[in-house]
Amino acid sequence: MCGIVGYVGQRSARDVIYKGLERLEYRGYDSAGIAVVLAEDGVGKNFVEKVAGKLKNLQNKVGNLSESSGLGVGHTRWATHGEANEANCHPHISDGITIVHNGIIENYAELRKEIGENRFYSDTDSEIFAHLVADNRAKGMDLSEATRVAFQRLEGNSAFVVIDRDTPDTIIAIRKGASPLVVGVGKNEGLVASDVPALLAHTRDVYYLKENEFVILRHDGAKAFDLDGKEKRIQLEHIEWDADAIDKMGFPHFMLKEVHEQPQAIAETLRPWIVESKEKVRIHVDRMSSGSVVEAVQAAQNIHIVACGTAFYAAMYGQNLIERYVRVSARAELAHEFRYRKPHLRSNDVGIVVSQSGETADTIAAARMMRERGMKVFAITNVRGSSIARECDAVFLMNAGIEICVASTKAFSTMLAVFAALSVGLGVAKGHIDEEQEKEWVGAFLALPSLLEEQLKQGNMIQDIAKDYQNMKGYLYLGRGPYYPMAMEGALKLKELAYVHAEGFAAGELKHGPLALVEDKMLVVAVAPEGSGELHLKTLSNIAEVKSRRGTVLGIGQAKDSHFQDISDRYFSIPTVKLGDLNSILSLVPLQLLAYYISAAKGCEIDQPRNLAKSVTVE
Ligand code: F6R
Repeated sequence: MCGIVGYVGQRSARDVIYKGLERLEYRGYDSAGIAVVLAEDGVGKNFVEKVAGKLKNLQNKVGNLSESSGLGVGHTRWATHGEANEANCHPHISDGITIVHNGIIENYAELRKEIGENRFYSDTDSEIFAHLVADNRAKGMDLSEATRVAFQRLEGNSAFVVIDRDTPDTIIAIRKGASPLVVGVGKNEGLVASDVPALLAHTRDVYYLKENEFVILRHDGAKAFDLDGKEKRIQLEHIEWDADAIDKMGFPHFMLKEVHEQPQAIAETLRPWIVESKEKVRIHVDRMSSGSVVEAVQAAQNIHIVACGTAFYAAMYGQNLIERYVRVSARAELAHEFRYRKPHLRSNDVGIVVSQSGETADTIAAARMMRERGMKVFAITNVRGSSIARECDAVFLMNAGIEICVASTKAFSTMLAVFAALSVGLGVAKGHIDEEQEKEWVGAFLALPSLLEEQLKQGNMIQDIAKDYQNMKGYLYLGRGPYYPMAMEGALKLKELAYVHAEGFAAGELKHGPLALVEDKMLVVAVAPEGSGELHLKTLSNIAEVKSRRGTVLGIGQAKDSHFQDISDRYFSIPTVKLGDLNSILSLVPLQLLAYYISAAKGCEIDQPRNLAKSVTVE
């Protein structure tokens, strides 16, 4: 939700910042802006350029900013307060102070009134902060003090980066709540950004700002302080990421590249779970976390699995597997519902929060709520230094590598892989899965990446199917058991990428209403590989009901399933995996590619769907 970049050093700030923003555009793309400070003969001046729309619209205007300035800030916006026009675009300036903001100022109406309506040129809440800092500077406070004191007036979660015309060698970065900031310390230069990709061209030594913390950043290093002004120790982390991860590597879109990265991502996800010893290969849970997850689960009466969006569908899959293999009651919940419904939680219950970014505001709030009730909370996340990873009792990393396309693909499949490994590992630890079955699971996990490879080779078949079905009246996705969350995910992918109406249903629910929608212009995507036991035949009966109402069916199942093929208009076969629960992961590829190719045929912005942003750090 908004991308921030700040730079101080010897290079051209405008160029470093523009390149950095290109790496963060997935965070917001409603408008963009860059401001630099130029100091000549000891007098600093502000320069700013802004545009509505995508970052590329700013390209022509960046040249108006002085190349020789070594201090600046930039921003790509996902609008909260005020529409996406130039006036509302960041950076915001008040006297000598320039700020960029990610988050929401909840008490903005009251502060705006206090500051005086006549001083405002935008409709944003963010502009308030520029005025508050400028007013504190006018009272004689230095920049860090002026920022710190102004920040304490704000309610809500926010991250700001502040520069000052009169202090042209300093950046202040400050944060509270789910608005991430990461500082990069380079050779004779300092950077700050909302996410690591913006820093990688300059440094791999980074520091993630903690909650309620601010950093004074200069070309020769960074110092961190708490909000009372007490200095804290900074421990830099070295990032090992492969720089290729942030390039398209010849694919037309990040999405397609990320879909094709799934075999590798799944292998990386599962590798650390599988422990080879002299006697046997096994799945080990506690090696993957910092504490005794097994003990906590053994004591739990309930497991609450909490997430949003695609991660919630992974949670639904997790609920299914945990109940079956760990034999403890599990419930998947949407974080924004869970946190406000006053759930009945016991201190010995366990929470699992699932979040690719580790920065989703509602999911973080749910994790905090559970921890405050004394529960142990585990995180499934892709970002090691994220808020969720830092705050939870144990972390299961997805190891998917950076995901740039706003719509999740490899993040989802690796979440499923973590849930499978976790459920089996806990099932073994609790004695519900015996040695023979564990061995079978290990074999199935090891085979999964090559089965996915095999499937990706059939990608052009989906392209062909997408051509036939790109102009349907609507799209219904059906699944049962472990395929129900896949149906939900398939529909979400199509909605967000191709802007068409798509709904996911539990197939058994069809005759309770949605069947009324069925006609020949309605595509029913039936996700029904074998492996869901008796549910398989039940789904096929539901598909027969669709066919008898002249619905058009795209079946996703196994090659050997001739009956399913016969009742489908088109059919995509997935390879057979020994353990049926992993079919869910295999069924994802056609769903992802169908959304991709329909979106491409309609000429939509695949990597950056309208109105969305990759990480939702506001409520
Ligand atoms: C959809 C999508 C979103 C995210 C959701 C949660 O493709 O990506 O629905 O899954 O915003 O994000 P994380 O996993 O970062 O908490």
